Amino acid sequence: KVVVLDYGSPYNQHITRKIRDFGVYSELHAHTTSAEEIKKMNAVGIILSGGPASVEEAYGIDPEIFSAGIPILGISSGMQLVVKHFGGELDNSSEADYNAETVTVNTSAGLFNGQAEKQTVWMSRGGRVKTLPEGFTKLAGGESCEFAAIGDETRKVYAVQFHPEHQESEQGIDLLRRFIFEICAAKGDWSMSNFIDIEVEKIRATVGDKKVLCALSGGVDSSVVAALIHRAIGDQLTCMFVDHGLLRKGEADSVVETFSNQFHMNFIKIDARERFLNKLKGITDPEQKRKTIGNEFIYVFDDEAAKLNGIEFLAQGTIYADIIESGTATAKTIKSHHNVGGLPEDMDFKLIEPLTALFKDEVRAVGAELGLPEEIVRRQPFPGPGLGVRVLGEITEEKLEIVRDSDWILRDEIQKAGLDRSIWQYFTVLPNIRSVGVRSDERTYDYAIGIRAVNSTDGMTATWAKIPYDILEKISVRITTEVPRINRVLLDVTSKPPSTIEWE
Ligand code: XMP
Repeated sequence: KVVVLDYGSPYNQHITRKIRDFGVYSELHAHTTSAEEIKKMNAVGIILSGGPASVEEAYGIDPEIFSAGIPILGISSGMQLVVKHFGGELDNSSEADYNAETVTVNTSAGLFNGQAEKQTVWMSRGGRVKTLPEGFTKLAGGESCEFAAIGDETRKVYAVQFHPEHQESEQGIDLLRRFIFEICAAKGDWSMSNFIDIEVEKIRATVGDKKVLCALSGGVDSSVVAALIHRAIGDQLTCMFVDHGLLRKGEADSVVETFSNQFHMNFIKIDARERFLNKLKGITDPEQKRKTIGNEFIYVFDDEAAKLNGIEFLAQGTIYADIIESGTATAKTIKSHHNVGGLPEDMDFKLIEPLTALFKDEVRAVGAELGLPEEIVRRQPFPGPGLGVRVLGEITEEKLEIVRDSDWILRDEIQKAGLDRSIWQYFTVLPNIRSVGVRSDERTYDYAIGIRAVNSTDGMTATWAKIPYDILEKISVRITTEVPRINRVLLDVTSKPPSTIEWE
């Protein structure tokens, strides 16, 4: 295992990700992790990720880490920690800036062995090295930065002023690979099925003979957690699925089919459709709607969990993106989303969150490996408050039904056109406007429905998807003939920003 210590760089999890892609298990840990803890993890290498803080105000490090006998690679502010610890000098520039720069490297040094002598790197400009600590030699240098890379080959401590994990660093990934395999001598035999084995063992050790409850939403993350924990402890797991009536067509049935019928899990389905509809009556403000749905979910879950006996643990499908979006000790908060999985804090459970290290596509790979069906593993992102934010204005059962039926047709046609893998997210929205139309020579005064389809990698920004006109036409004809009370179909051609993906 390679441990990456978190100094707040937005790219830090990309480092662990790259290393896992090499077939070596890697995890991100807080910069407060002690040498003792790292040794217990059987780490073969340590990477100090860069970060925004200059070394003066920097997050600290346990000095014992430097004498643990484990190879170290310090990146940018991690380099400053290395230099400071071993007695070198830094200039006190605190520019928090980056640029692409050409450096000349010592190609006979382990880190750069066999690489091109001149290469472009993504240089961090703050806190450059002025004098080398004893035992260190210069391994690379550039115009703005004399010591772009340094190393002490005996102690196996290396440091770079640039970000090798950044795409602008031409040979950066190769450098990481050399550090991992040549300097740390990692084996490279890790895979998703190892991940499952490791986590299954951890879950068994944590849970013992106690019981675990998992709130299943039918989304990828909670489904994968349920399947993983089930693999570990079988019937000691109970899954609870709350049908709030705001799901897409066929979704509740598919969750029941998968978990109850295929996996034979202890499965409780709570039909809370009426309870939610009643609570939502008369509410038109989007934020109030979201709050009402989120709170009601917690009340329902609370009520139902209280009926179960002897549950000690609660499993959650928290993944890396959730942590980064709601902020860790060192990472800046980007956006906090309400998640229907977000459960009350005062509940008397201990948490199990086995997926916190993983990216979404890794979670999908784990799901596939565990035997979850394609439709769950490949599921599009779906907002916690469900169709509640796709029916604008007051929510009624009739409007929900219109969205469900039109959404079903959209999904069907997109799939038939073979576009379901290439469009990131697509759905219909009911904007609550009515307009005049004509059907069988009669005047109608009915709803318009909107088609929203976008491409994105993480939902933070998005571009509208250009569905071919002939497919759009089929969708429009089918929706207006098959869905009652729709006489007009609209297409949303806005990207995010300035709009958001959902309409509320
Ligand atoms: P927006 O509308 O903010 O959506 O551009 C970005 C992505 O997030 C999904 N989304 C949510 N996901 N809870 C979630 O788990 C929510 O409350 C929520 N609201 C929006 C949305 O579907 C899109 O993929």
